[in-house]
Amino acid sequence: MRRHLVFGLENKATPIIGVDIGASTIKLAQFKRDKNILSLVNFGVAPTPEGCIENGKIVKGDIISEALSSLLSLHSFVGKRVSASVSGQLVTVRQITVDDIPRQPLDDIVKWEMEKHISYPIEDAVFDYQVLSRSHTGDGGIKANCLVAAAPLEIVNALVGVIRKTHLEPVFIEVEPFAELRLVDYVSYKRPDLDAKTIVMVNIGSTITSVNVADQSVIRLTRMIPFGGARISQAIASTLGITIERAEELKRESVNMDPQANLEAGTEAERATSAALPIIDELVLEIRRSLNYYTTRFESDRPLHLILSGGTANLKGVADYIEVSTGFTVEINRLLLDVAKYDPSMFAESYLIEMAPMFSVATGLSLREFEAAAARKRSDRKKAKPVEAGESLLTYRPGSEGL
Ligand SMILES: Nc1ncnc2c1ncn2[C@@H]1O[C@H](COP(=O)(O)OP(=O)(O)OP(=O)(O)O)[C@@H](O)[C@H]1O
Ligand SMILES: [Mg+2]
Repeated sequence: MRRHLVFGLENKATPIIGVDIGASTIKLAQFKRDKNILSLVNFGVAPTPEGCIENGKIVKGDIISEALSSLLSLHSFVGKRVSASVSGQLVTVRQITVDDIPRQPLDDIVKWEMEKHISYPIEDAVFDYQVLSRSHTGDGGIKANCLVAAAPLEIVNALVGVIRKTHLEPVFIEVEPFAELRLVDYVSYKRPDLDAKTIVMVNIGSTITSVNVADQSVIRLTRMIPFGGARISQAIASTLGITIERAEELKRESVNMDPQANLEAGTEAERATSAALPIIDELVLEIRRSLNYYTTRFESDRPLHLILSGGTANLKGVADYIEVSTGFTVEINRLLLDVAKYDPSMFAESYLIEMAPMFSVATGLSLREFEAAAARKRSDRKKAKPVEAGESLLTYRPGSEGL
């Protein structure tokens, strides 16, 4: 796995603020680097106003922009430069193999092939790709194995619109799995054990669970499972006949997936846990399906290791439950604490530990330029330019200079 050497930012630009706008919460994170030491500037979370996100798309930009503004004003973030992510069912990441035909732009060949993998016209997509490898065929041809990411233009434009409306500067827009992978990659110098594993990043959010398999710093498989924590709360509410707000409280405080918890039968905690169980079981089944597909399709002798993130990773006992039911090792994504130093008088460790899994995407997004700065130093490339609406880089290329 690539080691990210850490060099100081050469330009005077303020560090990137990672912006993760989810269906349930908006998360912001910012780090700075001083003499090769990364430290947490700030992070903040606020509820996403109801009904503003549908299928990963911001449908009420004005309201989101207001929520983002008040979150920014609550915390002392520095500057206006942001990196944000797109996610959801309509965001596609695929490995495809195409014929690399001489004198035909590979861009066009990949575009034609990608058209088969998305449910909307390719003209309405923002897409980007990276050639992972090339191989010769018996008849003298060349095949290119590419990692392609695509998202509907309207999703990207709505996000860029909100960022601009909030008087922020969108510098990078990318797909969520790459932000999460960057965080894992970034800490790999501290966690050599991760090098020896195939990493499965499982982000259990509110409406979506994403499963992203990365081997040797390359995303091999991404899967979106169309439910998450919100469905658990709904199941608790309807089974116990209580409001969704009370179900949400019970889920956070009393549900415990650990079989050793020995919850007393008939108590609220036990009934809520029993209501949550089938949803988690369904999730586990979907994760196993994805991983079965992965292991039949891709050869790797590295064992699978699951890293759980998203707010639902904090459900008590969920990591152990998934570990036992999948047979793979599982850890909760608290890599935020490995990435940077923080001022203990400003941030309580226990709070950081609790929030870390929810902040995995915002953290990965905010690290974007530290990685790029290292690459720039190597290749002496120009400074990143802000994205235009509808124009963005969607893929994470380890060690590349980005836009
Ligand atoms: N301590 C906790 N225990 C259980 N669930 C929790 C806890 N804290 C938060 N959650 C759940 O986590 C979810 C929110 O997580 P997150 O912020 O990662 O989602 P999101 O990014 O807004 O959603 P999505 O990714 O689906 O757009 C909610 O369903 C919430 O109920
Ligand atoms: Mg999310």
